[in-house]
Amino acid sequence: LPETIITHSAQETRRWGEELAKQLQSGDVVALIGELGAGKTVLAQGILKGLGVKETVQSPSFIMVREYTGHSPVAHIDLYRLRNSQDFLALGLDEYMDSKYIIVVEWGEKILDILPPHHRQIRLTWGRDHPDQRFISYQQHSKGK
Ligand SMILES: Nc1ncnc2c1ncn2[C@@H]1O[C@H](COP(=O)(O)OP(=O)(O)O)[C@@H](O)[C@H]1O
Ligand SMILES: [Mg+2]
Repeated sequence: LPETIITHSAQETRRWGEELAKQLQSGDVVALIGELGAGKTVLAQGILKGLGVKETVQSPSFIMVREYTGHSPVAHIDLYRLRNSQDFLALGLDEYMDSKYIIVVEWGEKILDILPPHHRQIRLTWGRDHPDQRFISYQQHSKGK
């Protein structure tokens, strides 16, 4: 079942990402879903920090993927410029799946059809009360139902 939390600042979203990172292990895929400016990169920064990545994490919008090494190898992927899973496959980005990498993918909704059964989906939307408020809903998909 989806779990929803509310954050009130980018810092709070980063901290939640750090907590989430504790559950991740090699081979996991986290799909971040939400409009431009929703906070996907901010959340990815928190997740990567929690995974032990010391470098500054920037948006990989232009280059599609940045690799890091934390406790495991991590690939931060941004599909902003891609249309769909066909583009993803054409670029060979699927090689990161079923590998040692933990994958954090922005605009994950574009490749829902090829995400592995065990991926996690995180949706970010704006709250109504304050410009810095975000709803973050978290869903773990597992094999079968
Ligand atoms: N609660 C919040 N969580 C995440 N980001 C927030 C929050 N409140 C304000 N922001 C701001 O919203 C913007 C989110 O940008 P970014 O993470 O790059 O979005 P995306 O990657 O989804 O396009 C940042 O400028 C960030 O400071
Ligand atoms: Mg982004």
